[in-house]
Amino acid sequence: MEEKNRGNFSGSLGFILSAVGSAVGLGNLWGFPYKMGANGGFPFLIIYLVFVIFCGVVVMGLEMAIGRKTGKSPVLAMASLGSKYKFVGWLSVLCPIIISGFYSVLIGYSVRYTWGFLLEMVGGNGFDGMGGGDFFGAYTAEPMQVLLFTVITLAFCGLIVAGGISGGIEKFNKVGIPGLFVLLIVIIVYNFTLPGASQGLTYMFTSKGMAMAGTEFNFFNACRVAAGQMLFSCSLGMGIMITFGSYMDPKENISKNAWVIPAADTTAAIMAGLAIFPAVFAQGGTPNGGVGLLFITLHDTFTSMGSIGNVIGFLFYVLVIFAGVSSLISLMEVASAHFIDSNEAKGKPVSRKNAVLVMTLIIFVLSIPICLDMLGGGATSQLPLVSKIGCLVDTYDFFTEGIMMPLAAILMCLIVGWVKGPQWYEEEMEKHGNKIVGKAFFRISIKYITPILMTFVLISLALSYLGI
Ligand code: PHE
Repeated sequence: MEEKNRGNFSGSLGFILSAVGSAVGLGNLWGFPYKMGANGGFPFLIIYLVFVIFCGVVVMGLEMAIGRKTGKSPVLAMASLGSKYKFVGWLSVLCPIIISGFYSVLIGYSVRYTWGFLLEMVGGNGFDGMGGGDFFGAYTAEPMQVLLFTVITLAFCGLIVAGGISGGIEKFNKVGIPGLFVLLIVIIVYNFTLPGASQGLTYMFTSKGMAMAGTEFNFFNACRVAAGQMLFSCSLGMGIMITFGSYMDPKENISKNAWVIPAADTTAAIMAGLAIFPAVFAQGGTPNGGVGLLFITLHDTFTSMGSIGNVIGFLFYVLVIFAGVSSLISLMEVASAHFIDSNEAKGKPVSRKNAVLVMTLIIFVLSIPICLDMLGGGATSQLPLVSKIGCLVDTYDFFTEGIMMPLAAILMCLIVGWVKGPQWYEEEMEKHGNKIVGKAFFRISIKYITPILMTFVLISLALSYLGI
């Protein structure tokens, strides 16, 4: 019964594609490129890579080892390390549930835009005759419409997750992830034919980017932004890789995957920048960040390209949907796996379908305030804490990416590195004669480098929140 509800990956490729599918998402497509441009361009890239290597690779390996060794989802996995560590698992389960609450809304926006460009392509009126800013403002100000597209997204993802690991998640990713990379390449190649596209490269890869974005370089801020972005982008510190690890074949080389997945994620992030900025600059746009970049700026960019813009726009938003769905299904999987495992442990087994249904409903409820908040236009954004952070999406993000994820990462390193000792995870990584790629590197990082870097990030976040 347990096996039937839990499921397993059918092989290496399915696992890697699903882990990359989880990692590559909206964070790569819009978060990374604009944060890079606004925080120093090339220097930011270097800082980001330091975090990817010394925190991303390490935590990725650790989470997969915890998952496979215990064979459980985060709460039970951490509890089997010691009952007092159960709360670390809880941090990791709550995070994906909260993130799904806004992530599903953002994918819903992309569904609306895909539909819009499809209509324009066949000669219809996809955006009510409005330009980027006006349409986005009008659309987000109608919570019922936004909610409708969110429901479509959640229902679609719920069905995939209900299909199980090899029958649903893997199947989607085997098509979706190669498709995503192909679409990225098509758009990048097209971009390079545009006049003025080289400004996009200047923006991304030189320190001139700061002036173009109208920002100044601040080392501490760049570190904080890079670290949060890295955790979010690699899907770390929230139990995803613990859960995926629990479905992983024992023959699989964990340490190798721990290098490959962040590398693929970082490559996708840089490619996303190449798919966005040359076009933005070629059409005389400005590199404004956040949701505005992904929807308002790009909408205007595609529209100004004439009829080919409708095709490129359509392809681009299909790409966003692929990337978003493959990430959202991993978030929903963690939540559902927790529900399946915890009921199993209580001796009240629940079917995968029912577990997914319950979790989808919980996520739906969490997405309602996000829709009603209208990206800062609603009453919720006036609440004292929320208004200090930004809007409600920023608040969900602040608690997860800013606090819970780094905290979970630090605690996992300390528990495994200091309490359990390196043999605990090395034994798992070396199963079936696998060699650990960077054994000494993992040892030193888990004990010292990763927790120190992550603590530094948490402290700089607290200081920046307090305005120091
Ligand atoms: N990593 C995904 C992205 O970059 C988002 C995500 C976050 C997915 C957390 C799963 C878990 O968009």
